[in-house]
Amino acid sequence: MKIRKAVIPAAGLGTRLLPSTKAMPKEMLPIIDKPTIQYIIEEAVESGIKDIIIVTGKGKKSIEDHFDTSMLLEETLKNKGKITILKEMQSISQLANIHYIRQGVPNGLGHAIWCARNFIGNEPFAVLLGDTLIKDKKPCLKEMIRLFEECQSSIIGVKRVNESELSRYGIVDVMKGNESLLKVRNLVEKPDKGEAPSDLAIFGRYILTPKIFELLEKQERGVGNEIQLTDSLQTLLNYENVYAQIFEGKSYDIGEKLGYLKTIIEFAMEREDLKKDLVEFLKAIVIKKGTAPLE
Ligand code: G1P
Repeated sequence: MKIRKAVIPAAGLGTRLLPSTKAMPKEMLPIIDKPTIQYIIEEAVESGIKDIIIVTGKGKKSIEDHFDTSMLLEETLKNKGKITILKEMQSISQLANIHYIRQGVPNGLGHAIWCARNFIGNEPFAVLLGDTLIKDKKPCLKEMIRLFEECQSSIIGVKRVNESELSRYGIVDVMKGNESLLKVRNLVEKPDKGEAPSDLAIFGRYILTPKIFELLEKQERGVGNEIQLTDSLQTLLNYENVYAQIFEGKSYDIGEKLGYLKTIIEFAMEREDLKKDLVEFLKAIVIKKGTAPLE
């Protein structure tokens, strides 16, 4: 079967970025001049997906507004002759067929995915976490979809992380084999220090078979008293093969302060309109700090 649909969970409270996320969804935080979630929708579209459901929650209405037509804005831009930006605004609302469902209670990632079950139906689908940006030569999801066409099984995108980071992620233990697609043996959500079975961390891209909905429905609460997708993936191993794909590109977690800052700087360094001035500015700061320590 082909992957035609994607779920973007975006209902989290963004507590690591408070107070900026008190009234604004973290998925709408701008990376320079584009909200994070638009990059994610673009990755899905470039990977061949047209039907997307965003799982939202309280205070997330600006996500819907962003992907909707804004007649007032379009009229104003047209009257002012700002045609390039007008076209760009129009293209945002035509990016994909975007649907929304609300996760009424913050019960965790697994529950958010389960909320999308009627939209997905009985077919495999993609998941892109709303706070993780990816940079690679090819869209990351596109490669995962290609591999799914070969194995027809769930695939989890993983990357190697340092020991100090292991307890922030879902960690995947794999069997030895073909490096591009490894059979999963075991998964642990946010292991305690010294308990991680490997250094392969789930970073926010999945291809899942619809069997996962059945398991999520019965899933008991796990880490953080939340319904964890990782726990249902562990149960899925009793029924189907699950694979991990090691991702070599760069991923950016905008859901925490330093990650957000780094993302903006790296994305700005690739913009011709910003790079030169930014480099000058950063150099000046570093030199100043070097000669006159802050304290
Ligand atoms: C979620 C997943 C976790 C994964 C992480 C990636 O956790 O549960 O397995 O490693 O996303 O960012 P969260 O960051 O929502 O706590």
